[in-house]
Amino acid sequence: MKKLHIKTYGCQMNVFDSNRMEDLMVAIGYETTPTAEDADMVIINTCHIREKASEKLFSDLGRLRPFKDKKKEQGSEMIVAVAGCVAQAEGEEIFRRSQVVDIIVGPESYQTLPDLVGKVIRDKKRQINLEFTPNDKFDLLPQSKAGTGASAFVTVQEGCDKFCTFCVVPYTRGTEYSREVSKIYDDALKLAQKGVKEIYLLGQNVNAYHGLNDKKEASSLAKLIEKIAEIPQIERIRYTTSHPRDMADDLIAAHRDIPKLMPFLHLPIQSGANNVLKGMNRKHTRQDYFKIIERIREARPDIGLSSDFIVGFPGETDQDFEDTMDLVRQIGFTQCYSFKYSPRPGTPAAEAKIQVEEDVKTDRLARLQKLLGEQQTEFNKKFKNEIMPVLFEKEAPKKSARQHDSGKMQLWGKSPWLQSVIVDVDSEKDLAKYLGQIAQVKILQARPSSLVGEMIVN
Ligand code: 5AD
Ligand code: SF4
Repeated sequence: MKKLHIKTYGCQMNVFDSNRMEDLMVAIGYETTPTAEDADMVIINTCHIREKASEKLFSDLGRLRPFKDKKKEQGSEMIVAVAGCVAQAEGEEIFRRSQVVDIIVGPESYQTLPDLVGKVIRDKKRQINLEFTPNDKFDLLPQSKAGTGASAFVTVQEGCDKFCTFCVVPYTRGTEYSREVSKIYDDALKLAQKGVKEIYLLGQNVNAYHGLNDKKEASSLAKLIEKIAEIPQIERIRYTTSHPRDMADDLIAAHRDIPKLMPFLHLPIQSGANNVLKGMNRKHTRQDYFKIIERIREARPDIGLSSDFIVGFPGETDQDFEDTMDLVRQIGFTQCYSFKYSPRPGTPAAEAKIQVEEDVKTDRLARLQKLLGEQQTEFNKKFKNEIMPVLFEKEAPKKSARQHDSGKMQLWGKSPWLQSVIVDVDSEKDLAKYLGQIAQVKILQARPSSLVGEMIVN
């Protein structure tokens, strides 16, 4: 068997795409290997959304050079493919800058990967495919392999038409495209039959979902969730990432009416200042956001809230940043992502004359992250001594075992609010019994970014 190594950067969409590329390659006789050194094929699935994406790529490629040379000396070959959003954004330029690369393939055309690999081997020629063919893409992808685990991603929507002025997504992933309800339902059903208990619906702008149903009418995300909730084995449904503009009434109501929809919402706001939001072309105000949060809390009072923030967007003043801090204090988030603004070539904001100084960005980010960290810890603490259902996805990594210091085998799972929960198990038998299952857990200890609990045995 030939060996395949995949390195993935970026979001859950990229993780999903990497898994599909693995499925494609496994179907033509490859198996995965954790290291690039001895691989016959290396795929670097890139992310272009923030900071130094192409530098990272070229340093990765530089590191592959000696391995590729060694393979050649041994009379075999290492095929190197660059996939993902940097591939889409930089295209042929990657061939010019690196001799190591054999294939450049975009996020909407990687279903052709086996074909491209065949051509590289046969014709000894570099291959590039950056077409936008989402329809073909999903039809041509093989079913995910067995042993998918307890939680699985299903892409329901790709691309984005919002054109926030800082963001590359509309350029790298193209305009919005929603898959048909029946195809998503079939994917979810097949996953359920393989033991998956949680479906994670993915899209760059997932709540703008408008895929066709059996009557050829556009379905909302809420309707799609309702449909997937009909699958008995699926016990949990989540979705990400949403835009405030698309937080439709029926989606808010779904959080009240569909028990399988987990009490968690990732709703990026980016900034708490209206003039910054305007400059970002976010198409919503601070007040709109407060209103949505009020309504979602009415529908589902225990909802955990998460967001994305950018500090140091061009023109952001001290007062603007204080507005963001104030919004965070008023809302209270349970976990968030926050970044320094990084100019992305080709996006409007990158052209702005008034860029914020690096040390100001660093300072603002540190202050924001401190506050967000405190809120997360506060939220986690509320669960001490509480009992909650946890979906156990895997054995806990060794690091957390040492942190917890019990020396025992441990399972890692997720709470309904997306917290990591770590629980001791006494034997291999128990490990196997709980893995992939939802079990009741009593929380003993709350850490800043995880909970430690014990199994409730009836
Ligand atoms: N600079 C910093 N952060 C960015 N994001 C997207 N583009 C940029 C950029 N140019 C962040 C946004 C988005 C998240 C996925 O990445 O917060 O919601
Ligand atoms: Fe990028 Fe804005 Fe679209 Fe999100 S909504 S993917 S930030 S353009």
